[in-house]
Amino acid sequence: MPSTGRMFLQIPGPTNLPERVQRAMDMALINHRGEEFADLTKKILPRLKQVFRTEKGTPVLFPSSGTGAWESALVNTLSPGDGVLCIAIGEFSAGWGRLAKAHKYDVDVLELPWGSGVTEDAVHAKLAQDAGKKYKAVLTIHNETSTGVTTDVRAVRAALDRARHPALLMVDTVSGLACTDLRFDEWGIDVAVTGSQKGLLLPPGLGVLCVSEKALKAMESAQSPRYYFDWAPMIEKNRAGIFPYTPVTTLMYGLDTALDLLMEEGLERVFKRHHRLAEGVRRAVKAWGLKTVALQPQDASNVLTAVYLPEGYNADTLIARTENELNLALGAGLGPLAGRAFRIGHLGWMNELEVLATLSGVELGMKLLNVPFTLGSGVTAAQQWFLETHGK
Ligand SMILES: Cc1ncc(COP(=O)(O)O)c(C=O)c1O
Repeated sequence: MPSTGRMFLQIPGPTNLPERVQRAMDMALINHRGEEFADLTKKILPRLKQVFRTEKGTPVLFPSSGTGAWESALVNTLSPGDGVLCIAIGEFSAGWGRLAKAHKYDVDVLELPWGSGVTEDAVHAKLAQDAGKKYKAVLTIHNETSTGVTTDVRAVRAALDRARHPALLMVDTVSGLACTDLRFDEWGIDVAVTGSQKGLLLPPGLGVLCVSEKALKAMESAQSPRYYFDWAPMIEKNRAGIFPYTPVTTLMYGLDTALDLLMEEGLERVFKRHHRLAEGVRRAVKAWGLKTVALQPQDASNVLTAVYLPEGYNADTLIARTENELNLALGAGLGPLAGRAFRIGHLGWMNELEVLATLSGVELGMKLLNVPFTLGSGVTAAQQWFLETHGK
């Protein structure tokens, strides 16, 4: 591993930390039941609502990873045996369904091909079969991190409305929030789930949810056992700015500053920047003559791009070589994509030059493996796109 220069952490989360966030966390620990911490929480919660684009939703924070937030969404709203429809388009969307099965909910999986998005018709067809309305929740993913596909969450909402189905709409936005548009109120989301280590520009360690009034109502009758992830004491204590147990005080300082950064840039500009950088990467992949895992351009994620290597070349070898020899960490192919695809993360605190350096590192890595393509073609295609859209 080269010992000089920076490490390019271009996995699809955890992301590179902005310096301001890093500095904000370089603090002595404070009393988590004291006034200073309470003021911090009270400053954070309203701005989190802005990030979720909600007025009526309630943000809830746990010291956990995204998986903890998944669990929290289910155990607070469901009872053992309740029906759940999981829309699976990759490793993470299917993973939430596996977690639901582990909790003994009655899980049906709508399995769509890896690389595809979600259509209203496919979801509607499944909901229409549920004449007895046994599904109490529909789980969908905003951004599938294993395939680099973004779901049209509005289409899932539309399918529920068309079927007049009362199930709660639960959205995993672990790798979507604060990278690509999500509108909690407008899209009729009941529970949105995320983690701190992606668009929120923080280290791992916070599971963050936003819950609707309908989800809070469901909580009142939900019988699933819960304690650590119970929303009720959390929401009650949060009113005074404190937590029922020890919160991640250091990350809360970081979150305060990360929210400043997001608000200073403005969410619309954050989304536009992600789109522009992602498009640069997509043009590079095309110039290399390679295929993305995302099957349709309209579903391609602005958060990450999963790329197939040609037959006969091992993506895990590429990833090991760029990491060990070039200080460039890329994401591995997951599940059936292991060894066949690699993932380029282009989310969070990123700019054009970092994307170009990343693409240049991928090119060096692919040449080291003798993958056939024209050296510099991807970097040039991305540069051309950045020039065309400069200042726009
Ligand atoms: C979309 C998505 N959902 C869920 C998870 C699981 O989150 P965590 O690893 O923070 O538990 C991840 C992790 O990368 C993810 O990308």
